[in-house]
Amino acid sequence: MKTAIITGASSGLGSEYFIALTELCPEVEEFWLIARRESKLKELADKVPNVTSLVLPLDLTDNDSFTEYRNLLAEKNPEVVMLVNNAGYGKLGEAVKIPLKDQTDMVMLNCASLTAIALLTVPYMKKGSNIINVCSIAAFCPTPRMTVYSSTKAYILSFSLGLRNELKERGINVLAVCPGPMDTEFMAVAGIEGRSRLFSLLPRCKTSEVVRISIIKAKKGRAVYTNRFIYKLYRVLTKLLPHSLTMRRL
Ligand SMILES: NC(=O)c1ccc[n+]([C@@H]2O[C@H](COP(=O)([O-])OP(=O)(O)OC[C@H]3O[C@@H](n4cnc5c(N)ncnc54)[C@H](OP(=O)(O)O)[C@@H]3O)[C@@H](O)[C@H]2O)c1
Repeated sequence: MKTAIITGASSGLGSEYFIALTELCPEVEEFWLIARRESKLKELADKVPNVTSLVLPLDLTDNDSFTEYRNLLAEKNPEVVMLVNNAGYGKLGEAVKIPLKDQTDMVMLNCASLTAIALLTVPYMKKGSNIINVCSIAAFCPTPRMTVYSSTKAYILSFSLGLRNELKERGINVLAVCPGPMDTEFMAVAGIEGRSRLFSLLPRCKTSEVVRISIIKAKKGRAVYTNRFIYKLYRVLTKLLPHSLTMRRL
């Protein structure tokens, strides 16, 4: 069965990916929606009752979730046409002051789970399938006061580009989508509101735009997508200039 899988589907960008994929990928016969909050996933699935959705309440910082996911793939043997690896969070503050568990769980979720979900899913993909890994502009340059978060996103960008190269012969594309700030639950989880003047000045990106354009870019076989001119420029500058010149504390 042609399947699309979305992690972090219970809010923000992940929920938007579900809605957009139901419209832009009519070939998808079943959606797998993954996050911890089951009630939110069910609410989302009910919004589009004409598509089949499987709600999977999994904590992706827990290794047992990967076993559960692997077993489900083996049992259902889906043809995964789209994987959106989106679950993630950040924390604002000096790395030494943020609780250690918040930071190690962040590495586990943003890096290890994204890697595990991608590698477990690839065997169920065929030519023309897509992986969208949700990255961030934080991947382009170290970001003090979000040091661990920006490091995880640098990993995602590097992993996406490497995997894309490896999967090219099989006709599977990997896109890293690198958005700027978006008004989602991310802000409250990261504890950003009112605590960073620089962050409050950064232009916001629209979730619906990021999602829809990234799906189109993924289908066209692109490697990286950043929206808004200012963030495209930031990406170029961070490639041309040493990080000591482009790095700013949030
Ligand atoms: N908002 C921004 O400014 C911004 C900018 C650039 C990139 N991003 C990236 O965009 C992605 C989506 O974030 P968002 O802005 O949409 O924020 P969000 O609304 O907070 O969404 C995060 C999602 O991740 C899920 N999640 C968190 N911990 C999890 C866990 N342990 N296991 C499984 N799922 C978990 C959450 O669901 P549950 O709580 O139900 O588990 C939620 O569905 C993230 O990777 C983030 O880094 C965000």
